[in-house]
Amino acid sequence: MKYYITTPIFYPNASPHIGTAYTTVAADTFARYHRLKGDDVYFLTGTDENAQKIVRSAESKGLEPRVYVDGIVERFKALWDELDISYDDFIRTTEERHHRVVQKIFTKLYEQGDIYKSEYEGWYCTPCETFWTENKLVDGKCPNPDCGREVELLKEESYFFRLSKYQDALLQYIKNNPDFIQPSSRRNEMIKFIEGGLEDLCVSRTTFQWGIQVPFNPKHVVYVWLDALINYISALDYPDGDLYKRYWPAEVHLMGKDIVRFHAVIWPIILMALDIPLPKLVYGHGWYLSKEGGKISKSRGNVQDSFELIRRYGSDAIRYFLLRDMQAGADGAYSEDNLVERLNSDLANDLGNFVSRSLAMIVKYRGGVIPKGGSSTNLEEELVALSQEVIVKLEERLEAHDPAGALENLWRLVARLNKYVDETAPWTLAKQEDQQARLDTVLHTFAEAIRILGILCSPFMPKLTPKMFQQLGISEDLLLWEEAQCWDALGEGIQVARGEALFPRIDVSQFTVEEEKIAVNEVNVNKNAEESVKMVPSEGVVPEKEDFEPIKEEVSIDDFAKLDFRVAKVLHAEKVEKTDKLLKLEIEVAGKPRTIVSGIAQHYAPEDLVGKHVVIVANLKPAKLRGILSEGMILAASHEGILEVLTLDKDIPGGARVK
Ligand code: MSP
Repeated sequence: MKYYITTPIFYPNASPHIGTAYTTVAADTFARYHRLKGDDVYFLTGTDENAQKIVRSAESKGLEPRVYVDGIVERFKALWDELDISYDDFIRTTEERHHRVVQKIFTKLYEQGDIYKSEYEGWYCTPCETFWTENKLVDGKCPNPDCGREVELLKEESYFFRLSKYQDALLQYIKNNPDFIQPSSRRNEMIKFIEGGLEDLCVSRTTFQWGIQVPFNPKHVVYVWLDALINYISALDYPDGDLYKRYWPAEVHLMGKDIVRFHAVIWPIILMALDIPLPKLVYGHGWYLSKEGGKISKSRGNVQDSFELIRRYGSDAIRYFLLRDMQAGADGAYSEDNLVERLNSDLANDLGNFVSRSLAMIVKYRGGVIPKGGSSTNLEEELVALSQEVIVKLEERLEAHDPAGALENLWRLVARLNKYVDETAPWTLAKQEDQQARLDTVLHTFAEAIRILGILCSPFMPKLTPKMFQQLGISEDLLLWEEAQCWDALGEGIQVARGEALFPRIDVSQFTVEEEKIAVNEVNVNKNAEESVKMVPSEGVVPEKEDFEPIKEEVSIDDFAKLDFRVAKVLHAEKVEKTDKLLKLEIEVAGKPRTIVSGIAQHYAPEDLVGKHVVIVANLKPAKLRGILSEGMILAASHEGILEVLTLDKDIPGGARVK
C-alpha cells in the first residue's frame, strides 16, 4: 500500500516554534507507523516562500528576501533534524522545479478559460495572505478570529480563478465522500462556507515582484496560495514524473484548522479544473494554545526557543508531549510546566521506571541473562490479552490520525505492566527456593514487554527504541511491527546491558526559569500525596541520570542535629488500599506506637517487615498520605531500581537514637 502524507509548507518569516512542530511531528509519526507496517511511504514538507509578508519581514531586517529566507529555511531543517523528522522531500517554493509546474498550471487554467483577467478592488490581509470583501470584515479589520489585524485596500489589475464554476461539483464531492474532510466538525464548517456561495478568487498581484511570474504577463506574480498549494504535486514532478505516478493522490494533507479552508475549497477546485484525482483526506487538527489562552504563534510573540526546549528535555520528550496533549478535534494547552509534568509522570515514572526496575531485577536475580519463560498463569494471560487489545486500538487511532488517543491506549499497557511487577513481586519469589521457575517466567515477561513497548513506541519516539533494544541486548532487526504481537520472540541467553535512565526525572529548578514557576517537586507534593512519596529518597524507584545522585550541598553540624533519627520496631504492616506503592506501618518508638506511610510496597511484602528494627526520622512534621497521618519517614537505600530498608542486626530497642 502506498501512503503519501504532507504537512503544510511553512512561511519562513520567522524561526519554527513548538506549534509549527506539532503538525510535522504528527505527520512524522504517521509516516513512521506506515513504514513499520510495510507501506510505501512518501512524506513531504517544505517552506512557502513567495509571500508578501516574507518581503516585508526581509525589508524590516534590511535583507534581500532570498538571503533572509535562506537563513530561516536552515533553521527549519535544523529543527526537523533535531526532532528526527523523517521527511522524504523538503520543497521550497523558490525552487525552479516548483516555478516550472506552477507556471504550467497557471497557463493551462488560463487557456481553458478557468482563469481570466479583470480588476480586483477590495481588502487584503498580509499576515494571513488573504483577500477579503468589505462585508466580511469585522470592525474594518481582518475577520480571521486568530488575526484581527489591519487590512489594506487594494485596487489592481488581477487574474481571477473561477471558483464559482466548480462550487456545486465540490459540494457534491464533499457530500458523496464523507471522509474527505476530517474531523467532521471541520467538514460541517466547510459545507456551510461553500453553501454560502464561492466568489472567484484573485490569483495574481502586481504591486510587488517577489514570487512566480505569470508566464504570459510578467507584470503579475502568482497569488501565494495558488502557488503554495501546488507544492503537493510539483514536488512529485507533476504531470509526468515517476513520483507523481506512484504517489498521487495523497492519502492525507495534515494541517492546523486555520488553513483547512484553502485545502478543502481552493485546492480541490484546482485539481478538478486540472481533471486529476483529489487527495483522500484533508485533516485539520487543533492548535497549541499558550498559558494565556492564545494560539502559540510567531506574531503573538509567545513562542519559546524550540532548540532550547530540546536541549533541556530531549527531542523524544518534546515529541511525546506534543502528540499526547492535543486531543483529537480539540486544542491543546502548551506550557513548560505541562511538558515537565508529562515527562515526569508518563515517561520517567511509568515507562522509564518499568524498564529500569525490570532490567535491574534481571541483573540482580539472573546475573543479567534473560531467562527462558516457563508456564504462564492468569496474570500473563491477562497481560497478553490486554496487549492485543491495546495494539488494535493503537492502530485504529493512528489510522484515524489521533496520536493522543493512540498514546493513551499504549499507556494502559504501561500501567498494567507496572501493576504486573507489583502483583508478581519478584523480590519475594527470589527468596523462595521453589519459586525459581515462576521467577524465570516473570523476568522473561518483563523482557518481552520491554521489546514490545520498544516497537510500539517507535513511531512516536524514534530515539527511544534503539536505546531500549540496546539495554535489552537485542538488535534493531527485531524492530518489526508484527513482532509486537508475539510474547515469545526473545531467544535464550540474551545478556541485558543496563544503560542510563531513559527519561531522567526533571527538576525544573535546575533551569533558569521565570520566577513564578513552581518547581515540579512542589507541584507534585501539593497535588497528590502519593506522588509526594516519590520525592522521599527512600522510595528509590525513580531512575537517575547518573549512576549515583550527586552529593548535596554541605550543611552545618547544627543543621544535622536538628534531625532526630531513631530506631523503631515494626509491629504491623499492610498495603494502603487502592495504591500500588504505599505501605502503612505501625511502629513502636520509645514505647509509643506511631503510624508511618512509606512508598516501599513495590519492594517489600508487608509481612517481610514485621518484627524488624528500622531507622526513622522521628521529628519530621506529620503529613497526610491518602488520608492517613504519617508520623515520620523510614530510611532506605536505593540504587538503580533496587531498594533496601535500613535495619539493625542487633536487638536495640525502638526509641534508641541514631547519630
Ligand atoms: N504557508 C501556509 C501554508 C501553505 S500549505 C500549502 C501557512 N504557513 S504557516 O507557517 O502559517 O503555518 C501554518 C500551520 O502551522 C498551521 O496550519 C499548523 O499546521 C501549524 N501551526 C502553527 N501554529 C500552530 C499552533 N499553535 N498549534 C498547532 N499547529 C500550529 O499557513
